Amino acid sequence: MDIGFNLEGLEPTSVKRSKLMEVEGVPFPSDIAENWGLIRAFQARPDDLLICTYPKAGTTWMQEIVDMIQHGGDPQECARAPIYKRMPFIEICLPRRINSGLEEVEVMPSPRTLKTHLPVQLLPPSFWEHNCKIIYVARNAKDNMVSYFHFHKMNQWMPEPGNWDHFLENFLTGKIPWGSWFDHVRGWWDAKERYPILYLFYEDIKEDPAREIQKVAQFLGFKLPEQVLNRIVHHTKFENMKANPMANYTTVPSCFLDQTVSPFMRKGIVGDWKEHFTAAQSERLDDICARELRASSLSFRTEL
Ligand code: A3P
Repeated sequence: MDIGFNLEGLEPTSVKRSKLMEVEGVPFPSDIAENWGLIRAFQARPDDLLICTYPKAGTTWMQEIVDMIQHGGDPQECARAPIYKRMPFIEICLPRRINSGLEEVEVMPSPRTLKTHLPVQLLPPSFWEHNCKIIYVARNAKDNMVSYFHFHKMNQWMPEPGNWDHFLENFLTGKIPWGSWFDHVRGWWDAKERYPILYLFYEDIKEDPAREIQKVAQFLGFKLPEQVLNRIVHHTKFENMKANPMANYTTVPSCFLDQTVSPFMRKGIVGDWKEHFTAAQSERLDDICARELRASSLSFRTEL
């Protein structure tokens, strides 16, 4: 077993639907849980930047935005490698890999930008010790769940999602990889009071990408001339990212991500949940959200 997202040598027959295994009460694909000791010991550096999300909340979008900011809005620079190589996913572990991706991260020159989906309580402690900057993107529960459902179907390494009703129950009880959406968005929301965390919302980026990109640039200490900002907005539009092989995950073998089942860049909108939820399911999730988020100042928009 190797850790990482280094796909060379990935054997088609080694990609199987994962079983879930808990780490401190949070379910993960067993490949991750079995390597937890190594992941927890990950050594962050003070100038690491971490992009953190619940799965399917807009990670890749934020990664591409950040890479463009860091490279002066030059799309050629951002085409140097697929997004998962430019910004490695720290806790990913795939079965029977030839090289260790974690080793790859260790030898990456600084400053590194890294990706994680870990809930706040499971972040490797060295990120806190070094007070690393973190960008968190949250997405409303309904659209996040829809996107995750389709991702489960196309990602042959994720557990079988079952039908929509079944997946909804698992989503509500947190019995899915990376655990409870509620705990995730709340935990990181609270942590931003104590650490340098920029907390953003998918819906806000969709509404006004230029405004949100400026927030990211400011957080990272960049000043963006208008021309550069416009280039970043254009390059990171859904349609353009969908057509960009360095961002759309089409470089990953189909034995792992089967984009004939559902494309990685699927719809990229706010409100697709309306195509999936019954009225009763929608009301139920609204009630649960209201209850779960009542104690915090956190609120989500489910339409624009
Ligand atoms: P949908 O499945 O709703 O289309 P992640 O990168 O965290 O895995 O999230 C993937 C989700 O973000 C998918 O949502 C994908 O389409 C959406 N996405 C990716 N790039 C986007 C962009 N540039 N604009 C809007 N949505 C984007």
